[in-house]
Amino acid sequence: MIVLGIETSCDETAVGVVGPEGVLSDVIHSQDMHAEYGGVVPELASRAHAEKLVVSVRAALAQAGVQRPDVIAATAGPGLVGAVLVGLCHGKALAATWGLPFFGVNHLEAHLLSPLLDQPAPQFPFLSLVVSGGHTALYLAHGLGRYEVVAQTIDDAAGEAYDKVARMLDLGYPGGPVVDRLAATGDPTAVALPRPRPRAELPQTLRRGLSLARSDLDMSFSGLKTAVGAALAGPQPPSPADLCASFQEAVVDVLCDRISRAAQRTGVRRIAIGGGVAANGRLRARVAALGLEAFLPPRARCTDNGAMIANVGRLRALSGPPDPLSLTARAGWPPGAEPSA
Ligand code: KG4
Ligand code: ZN
Repeated sequence: MIVLGIETSCDETAVGVVGPEGVLSDVIHSQDMHAEYGGVVPELASRAHAEKLVVSVRAALAQAGVQRPDVIAATAGPGLVGAVLVGLCHGKALAATWGLPFFGVNHLEAHLLSPLLDQPAPQFPFLSLVVSGGHTALYLAHGLGRYEVVAQTIDDAAGEAYDKVARMLDLGYPGGPVVDRLAATGDPTAVALPRPRPRAELPQTLRRGLSLARSDLDMSFSGLKTAVGAALAGPQPPSPADLCASFQEAVVDVLCDRISRAAQRTGVRRIAIGGGVAANGRLRARVAALGLEAFLPPRARCTDNGAMIANVGRLRALSGPPDPLSLTARAGWPPGAEPSA
């Protein structure tokens, strides 16, 4: 079964083709016009998707040597609704024209399961950390469509914190890759920055203010970003390299701490990572050294791509009925929940 996957939830127009042997093609067009605005401008993103999508689909099919796939999958959310709609409607139109089954894919589920595209692939159950520009959560994946949130951020996503720190330092957008590069030349101990502790370790007085519904492994990155701002505004601002290295070490410390605790608590010792921040060199090295069985997808498969959408479409097509062509875009949508819920 050959599946075409379309991803347009943010600022990448991406189309991939996946077959039984794995990825056959993966075409990605990153929109660079957002850099001058310091973040993604939704209207510009939607228009650029509309411009690039037809050529990207043609290129992905040609590179895969496929004339017509067996299944069409497209991101249906979560993401910028206008941007999602461009890819979703294009995918539905292809499916309707060719008379093919269509699957509207959850973008977070696609990141969560992207490690299954490479060998060795993790067996269920496994822990999967999804760290991107809009989401940061650690899931326990029991099986296809069955995901339990073990820990998540209560404020900023880790990628958002990278982007905000990059903005403070005038490093451009997206900030993750440039902070990653600069951090490699700095001293991670140069600036003392806070590591938000798990709720169970907080003093009773602080714990009372937090909602009981939240996991005691939840994370927070907004205070860290504020601390970076304070260090910069202080009497002796650190060098950008030292600040980036210290910031990055704090982010990675928190993520690795929660992974270790989750592994201990659940007894699941397989950890996969996905989402743009999973391309981070320091995070990859630290996760690999945790003493768990680590599954780190290639960097290009951590940031948004079409192959991860095709992957979920393929897994769902092998195990259940397609989605109705009336399916529409969703701005918010927890992985594993019904799209109509
Ligand atoms: O998954 P993704 O491509 O798009 C979303 O679904 O959000 O993630 C984009 C995020 C951005 O915040 C970007 O700064 C961050 O991932 N990112 C990185 C790296 N590459 C991308 N963060 C840290 N280190 C990197 N190497
Ligand atoms: Zn993403």
